[in-house]
Amino acid sequence: MLARPTNFDHHWLPFTNNRMFRETPQMFAKAEGVRYLTPEGDTVLDGSSGLFCTPAGHGRREIADAVHAQLMTLDYTPHFQRAAPVSFELAERLAGLLPEGLDRVFFASSGSEAVDSAMKICLTYHRAKGEGQRTRFVSRNWGYHGVNLGGTSLAGMVNNRREFSGVTCDVVHMRQTWSEEQRYTQGQPETGAELADDLEEICRTYGADTIAGVFVEPIAGSIGTVVPPKGYLERLRAIADRYGLLLIFDEVITGFGRTGAAFASQAFGVTPDIVTMAKALTNGAIPMSAVATTAAIQDTVFAAAGDQDRPELFHGYTYSAHPVACAAALATLDIYRDEKLFERAAALSPAFLDMIFGLRNLPQVSDLRGYGMLAGIQLAPADKPGAKGSLAQRALFDAGLHVKATGDALIVAPAFVSGEDDLEQMGDILRRVLGRADLS
Ligand SMILES: Cc1ncc(COP(=O)(O)O)c(C=O)c1O
Repeated sequence: MLARPTNFDHHWLPFTNNRMFRETPQMFAKAEGVRYLTPEGDTVLDGSSGLFCTPAGHGRREIADAVHAQLMTLDYTPHFQRAAPVSFELAERLAGLLPEGLDRVFFASSGSEAVDSAMKICLTYHRAKGEGQRTRFVSRNWGYHGVNLGGTSLAGMVNNRREFSGVTCDVVHMRQTWSEEQRYTQGQPETGAELADDLEEICRTYGADTIAGVFVEPIAGSIGTVVPPKGYLERLRAIADRYGLLLIFDEVITGFGRTGAAFASQAFGVTPDIVTMAKALTNGAIPMSAVATTAAIQDTVFAAAGDQDRPELFHGYTYSAHPVACAAALATLDIYRDEKLFERAAALSPAFLDMIFGLRNLPQVSDLRGYGMLAGIQLAPADKPGAKGSLAQRALFDAGLHVKATGDALIVAPAFVSGEDDLEQMGDILRRVLGRADLS
């Protein structure tokens, strides 16, 4: 048995019903491979790679060793007017993985910070071009872009913005892309590409010359995996080009193999101007995120500074490019390369999606969506929205499976090192729990 805390009063948990948690805490005390261990010693299969963070599985010694070695060599570097070699090595490695042309990398520590950094890069770029009036952003209903004030403004998940709307910035939302006719579609839906025209409508209504950029998750992850309709992202790209907007793909979940390609932009064949990434960048081991953009954008920003002795971008964090996080990321990228984990994700995807779509006729299931190694299970709602998701998540934990729940959707995202037997066990638990007529 591993120690369980005796006092739950002091840690205020994020995105948690703390009152319920304190009554019946569901905790992890240890992790290895694709399994967690509770303080009581029970095994819980990890069906969501933690929070979409650990495609290489838990407890990777290579990452731990790299972190230890970096701590003993150079534990911290300021990155304001200073730097360490390790961050340049990481930026170059990322440039080799990203879509062609996205080869300038800015580092931060979380997905939320990456999103806010990307917003500021957009604003600085337009100002550098003499278009400082472009201060408005476009995003999408049901979108999730982290919880800092920039990301909260972009958010299209209502609960995440309702209480903070007094301090959000100017964002106009496009419609989300799911529709009734897409129910139970595996992969990209055939219908809905024309919803991208919302962007054109917004450009006409608000004036394209007031808009800096458009943020979308290529697959809307946190809402429960909404896969883009065929042609939708292409159409967004064309409209953004027509009106001089920057297109930003928030790949905090989809980056690093989740779609079977390094980035979803490559899987869908649409290249944005900016990509944000986090989570699997270090296999979740050390907080780190990044924003990648093009030389053209960086050159424009640098040129505006001319020969003045000042930063080109008035933005950065104490922990930007933390050397220990860089070391963790480099060790993670080595694992992805050496174990061909993105290829493995692509190879495992059909078995994974077959397992998910085999849940179709269960009493608790009302829709299934999926692409690559990411799937959404929509539950038939109870009286109150969100209640079923919470019940299901807790029941699944008790049955030995961890999955992320948002509202009445479960989001399944196994590690790429999962075996087919792990996927079978996942399927068994999902069938057992979601097959119940009553989850309470
Ligand atoms: C698309 C997207 N953007 C941003 C974030 C925020 O990342 P973080 O929680 O690391 O701040 C998330 C987190 O799930 C995300 O899915």
